[in-house]
Amino acid sequence: MKRIVSPSMLSADFGHLADAVHMIDASAAEWIHIDVMDGVFVPNISFGFPVLKAIRAASAKFIDTHLMIVHPERYVKRFVDAGADLVTVHYEAVDDPHAVVESIHACGVRAGISIKPATPVTVLQRLLPVLDLVLVMSVEPGFGGQSFIEGSVDKVRSLRRMIDKGGFPVQIEIDGGVSVANASELWQAGCDVLVAGSAVFGAENPEGEILKILNA
Ligand code: DX5
Ligand code: ZN
Repeated sequence: MKRIVSPSMLSADFGHLADAVHMIDASAAEWIHIDVMDGVFVPNISFGFPVLKAIRAASAKFIDTHLMIVHPERYVKRFVDAGADLVTVHYEAVDDPHAVVESIHACGVRAGISIKPATPVTVLQRLLPVLDLVLVMSVEPGFGGQSFIEGSVDKVRSLRRMIDKGGFPVQIEIDGGVSVANASELWQAGCDVLVAGSAVFGAENPEGEILKILNA
């Protein structure tokens, strides 16, 4: 299993976005996590296409796009055109997850489905054969800097069993409240990708913190 750290730009200093991107590009993180919020699916608004385009232009890393918006199916192509390498939509935000996954693949990028803390992993069973990634939310989506919800580790373990049992090439990503303190447990539970926002950007040495999370 290959470990990937995906620093969340939500916690970056938006007055110096390019510096944040250059830090990630020079670091051991392979992905950049982009949190798109619409103020409807979640009670917060972050940023959209122009900011994603600017980040894409400044970075050579894999762009991991987490859409916390209603009707994400309407915007898939625009996020791909803006630079997304992976488009993840919320299970709770779509009527037909299979159709959305198909439309993401039709744009030539990887497809992910995210579940909120209250959504059980069992809803994903029929989707695993077509998915590239599952994003398990370990906080209520909407804000950085929240505390990790402990029950999320068991969700990862169950999901790991479901994926291994079926032999599906699906990555597990976890997002919310991740830090050096819980990274080791999360890798061991079966996560492939750890998102970290405040833990990375709040650190004195963000690049060093990324390494610590990766090697926890
Ligand atoms: C929350 C976002 C997260 C957030 C994580 O809705 O999806 O990606 O940036 O921030 P931390 O790591 O600070 O919990
Ligand atoms: Zn996120």
